[in-house]
Amino acid sequence: MRFPAEPFRIKVVEPLRRVSREERVRHITEAGLNIFAVPADTIYVDLLTDSGTSAMSDNQWAGIMMGDESYAGSRNFYNFQKAVRDIFGYPFVIPTHQGRVAENLLFSTVLKKGDIVPNNIHFDTTRANVQHQGAEAADLVIDEGLDPSSLHPFKGNLDPAKLDRLLTEKKGRVPLVMLTVTNNSGGGQPVSLANIRQVRVVCTKHGVPLFFDACRFAENCYFIQQRESGQANRSIEEIAKELFSYGDGCTMSAKKDGLVNIGGFLAMKNEEWSKAITNLLILIEGFPTYGGLAGRDLEAIARGLREVLSEDYLAFRTGQVAHLGDLLDQAGVPIVKPVGGHAVYIDAKRFLPNIPQSQFPGQALVVALYREYGIRAVEVGSLMFAQPDEKTGEMVYPKLELVRLAVPRRVYTTEHMRYVAESVIELFRDRDKLRGLRVTYEAPVLRHFTARLEELAPEPATR
Ligand code: F0G
Repeated sequence: MRFPAEPFRIKVVEPLRRVSREERVRHITEAGLNIFAVPADTIYVDLLTDSGTSAMSDNQWAGIMMGDESYAGSRNFYNFQKAVRDIFGYPFVIPTHQGRVAENLLFSTVLKKGDIVPNNIHFDTTRANVQHQGAEAADLVIDEGLDPSSLHPFKGNLDPAKLDRLLTEKKGRVPLVMLTVTNNSGGGQPVSLANIRQVRVVCTKHGVPLFFDACRFAENCYFIQQRESGQANRSIEEIAKELFSYGDGCTMSAKKDGLVNIGGFLAMKNEEWSKAITNLLILIEGFPTYGGLAGRDLEAIARGLREVLSEDYLAFRTGQVAHLGDLLDQAGVPIVKPVGGHAVYIDAKRFLPNIPQSQFPGQALVVALYREYGIRAVEVGSLMFAQPDEKTGEMVYPKLELVRLAVPRRVYTTEHMRYVAESVIELFRDRDKLRGLRVTYEAPVLRHFTARLEELAPEPATR
């Protein structure tokens, strides 16, 4: 594969501190082996998330200086509204300070207790916001989307037959269908235009609106251009316009494909919903022309949304992530394939077959990556998802035990990716030295953010 070279040059640098292994051991021990609790300036390559971690362009920074901080009617709001209308095509545009607020506003307006929201796979905050209304979140991704070894090019697709069945059986209980592009919880996998058209047909048949969770829409559109027949000669903007034309609205965290550090929005066709949401917005976020953001932030989003449509940028972006995946794959490190748009997911079950899920192999890997190499990844496995069965009390472990290496946009060079690959490969060779973990403290919900753990004593090998 071609070496993905950066389609930008570097004008401002942020020095990285290289700290000693000794210092990292101290920090991770004090943190109770929880990677969320280590100081970020002790990390060399931080792959915790691609959210809010982008580097902005000179054009965006110039826009920041053009911030109009008027309480109402800021010119930046109009630029922002125009960018959203141009690309997404929805007339009513409501700014929020991040994606989950857009979700909360939408769901608290349109959901009631006992409702159901289908999605390919809900992202954690989307699921939590659906459940917060007493509604149920149903994941209807195609079966291939749950199989880490399937090479299906659009593993984010939603199964239209499952959707049709659910809308028939639960008639009147589904106020909207969501579709996450790309499907983050399924590995950053894209959804095809053909699938979106099918989902639209099913939604129309049942008279239910379709909303996109559009966080990574540009990456999704790039995969459509590259992988879907008949799409190769279309621009990303054309594909995006067609994609959103099949929907009735979207929620968006601009912290991803908005190329900014903070921001989000809701956009929709339904005027009545938008009015009700706007009233709520004024109550909890801010006036409708700023929605919890500064004028300068709105300007940076307006510019970021246009920049992210660049094919050169998207080829590099997805190429850099794929390159990291290829380096690991070639060395035999087990990863989820095909590599998604924003992250490489290591299959921790196969990486550490000697550590059972009850001893958190994913988290053991995360801890070792920080301790040995100063790299921060995040566990998406049993620490995050294992829960006792409501009836039997027995622990139920998630099917997938993954470690996510999420790549921030325009922040790290391909040499940084090589450093990460070499480190993971070295750790893979030394994997027999890693030990399982035990939880010593956990919160009742979302325990992975604050849990404390310790390493188990070495045991004689049983295999
Ligand atoms: N939807 C998806 C698909 C997401 O990935 C995220 C955030 C959100 C909604 C919520 O947006 O953070 O702006 O409130 N994902 C981040 C991640 C946190 O690391 O994957 P937010």
